[in-house]
Amino acid sequence: MKVSALITALILSSTTAFAGDADNGLELYQEVEIERTISGEHYTEANCETCHSAEIYQREDRKATTYAKLESRVEGCNTNLDVGWFPEDVSDVAAYLNREYYKFEK
Ligand code: HEC
Repeated sequence: MKVSALITALILSSTTAFAGDADNGLELYQEVEIERTISGEHYTEANCETCHSAEIYQREDRKATTYAKLESRVEGCNTNLDVGWFPEDVSDVAAYLNREYYKFEK
C-alpha cells in the first residue's frame, strides 16, 4: 500500500515537472544563487537579474521569439553560469518566464 502510494507520487511529480511547473519555476528563479565574477566584481549570491533585469525578457528585440527558443535561452544561461538546474528545472523556469513575460502559446 505504502509503496504504491510512493510510486503514484513519483509519477505525478515527474509528470508535473515535464509539463513545466511555473510556480516551481518561480521558486527556482527567486532562490538561485550563482557564484561568479561579473564586470570585475565577485558575487557569491548573484541571481538571474544581476546581469540583466527582467526588462530583458520584454525588450523589443528579445532573442526568445518562440517557446522553444525561450527554453533554450534559459538552458544557455543555466549552462554558462553553472547554475546546476536539471532539464525539468529549466522547463519550470521557462514556464514561469513565459507566464510572467513572454506569453507564448504552447
Ligand atoms: C553573467 C551574466 C548573466 C546572468 C547571471 C544571467 N544571464 Fe541571462 N543573459 C545574459 C546575457 C548577456 C544575455 C543576452 C544574450 C544575447 O543577447 O544574445 C542573456 C539572455 C537571457 C535570456 C534571453 C532574453 C531574450 O532576449 O529573450 C533569458 C531567458 C535569460 N538570459 C535567462 C537567464 C536566467 C534564467 C538566469 C538565471 C539562472 C540568467 N539569465 C542569468 C547574461 C546573464
